[in-house]
Amino acid sequence: MSNGLGVAVIGAGMAGRAHAAAYHVASTLYDPTLPPIRLVSIADINEEFGTLAARRFGYERYDSTWQDIAAADDIDVVSVVVANSLHREIVEGLLAAGKHVLCEKPLSDSLSEAREMARIADEAAPLARVGFTFRRTPGIAYIRELIQSGTLGKVLHFSGRYWTDYASSPQAPMSWRFKGEPGSGALADVGSHLTYVAEFLCGDMVSVAGGRLATTITERPVALGAVMGHDHVEVSDVLEPVENDDYATFNAEFAQGSGSFEVSRVAAGHANTLTFEVFCENGAAVFDQRRPAEIQLFLNDGPSKTNGYRQVILGPEHPYISGGLAMDAPGVGFGQNDAFGYQARAFLEEVAGLDAASSLPRCATFAEGLRNMELLNAVAQSAQAGGKQVTL
Ligand SMILES: NC(=O)c1ccc[n+]([C@@H]2O[C@H](COP(=O)([O-])OP(=O)(O)OC[C@H]3O[C@@H](n4cnc5c(N)ncnc54)[C@H](O)[C@@H]3O)[C@@H](O)[C@H]2O)c1
Repeated sequence: MSNGLGVAVIGAGMAGRAHAAAYHVASTLYDPTLPPIRLVSIADINEEFGTLAARRFGYERYDSTWQDIAAADDIDVVSVVVANSLHREIVEGLLAAGKHVLCEKPLSDSLSEAREMARIADEAAPLARVGFTFRRTPGIAYIRELIQSGTLGKVLHFSGRYWTDYASSPQAPMSWRFKGEPGSGALADVGSHLTYVAEFLCGDMVSVAGGRLATTITERPVALGAVMGHDHVEVSDVLEPVENDDYATFNAEFAQGSGSFEVSRVAAGHANTLTFEVFCENGAAVFDQRRPAEIQLFLNDGPSKTNGYRQVILGPEHPYISGGLAMDAPGVGFGQNDAFGYQARAFLEEVAGLDAASSLPRCATFAEGLRNMELLNAVAQSAQAGGKQVTL
């Protein structure tokens, strides 16, 4: 670390590019306390994706395999941003090579593999963290502050959904997202974020029930070229079966309060709708990822005749924004890409052994990543047992 921290990103797809950009911006956020960050390599088996991303985000080189990254002396910190089924092999190889690892959510596509990853991470000297981006979303963090300070007070009921539509067309091509065991579809892909946020706000869930998983489009055409993220590319006439869930729903008991959840990848018109309403003893709040620079707040503080939800535009008085945006003036807005920058900043601060220079929460441990997988697995179990209650 004498000449700073060398960074690499494995996977130059949809989220890999967000990680690549995030390391670029991380040292420009908050006080300049980070050691120099060297943007060293982007690795991807697809040379076109990898070389383009390396050039675009200012990385020194492109590598074609994760093993090249593991073997490189000039790399200290690595984001793993590939298909969930590939996380385990790559993460374990990197940790064995002494690299600090930030692995994308969910930890794996299987609970048994996630357990093994958490065990290995626990014994490893380098840091192993999971990329749940939404804890560093100012609106969500502010709602948590309102709950914990007593302004909203005790949570009574959480209602959340994460609706996406990347698979709503039957012509959306087959990709890794459609392969895997029950619960590895929409539930793992976007339900991982929603449940992580729900526990951030409401505390631990103690049981889930009413699980239901549905595959609504059962076959998809094989792509003629590489598929990045949710892109629609030219497809062949060959169809392959969809193995996992397009839609999932369940309800939950928290230690305090109840919740209901609905996630989808076939919700036409909702490209990225993570939204929830949390009802508390002194009022309620709404977050909607389509308008991430504001929240809606209802407080039981006025006569019912004139009381109602108010719009709160987020600014430097709210979490993470002061110093956390190049222009941190009121009303400048905040987006999901900014949250990737916050995540990279939090990870690099921890790797560098700095006290959190910002108020950003540390990235989730692999134990927390495993906990989230256990929760999702309980939902899948509930679904398999016709909606039965499953204790966590
Ligand atoms: N935090 C978030 O908001 C967020 C958003 C999207 C995706 N993700 C997560 O990021 C991960 C990747 O998702 P994505 O949408 O970017 O996928 P993607 O399909 O767009 O990209 C994956 C990339 O990995 C490359 N690849 C495949 N095998 C490889 C290998 N062996 N070595 C190196 N590269 C390889 C592919 O060529 C592709 O470029 C998943 O775990 C997903 O859950 C997180």
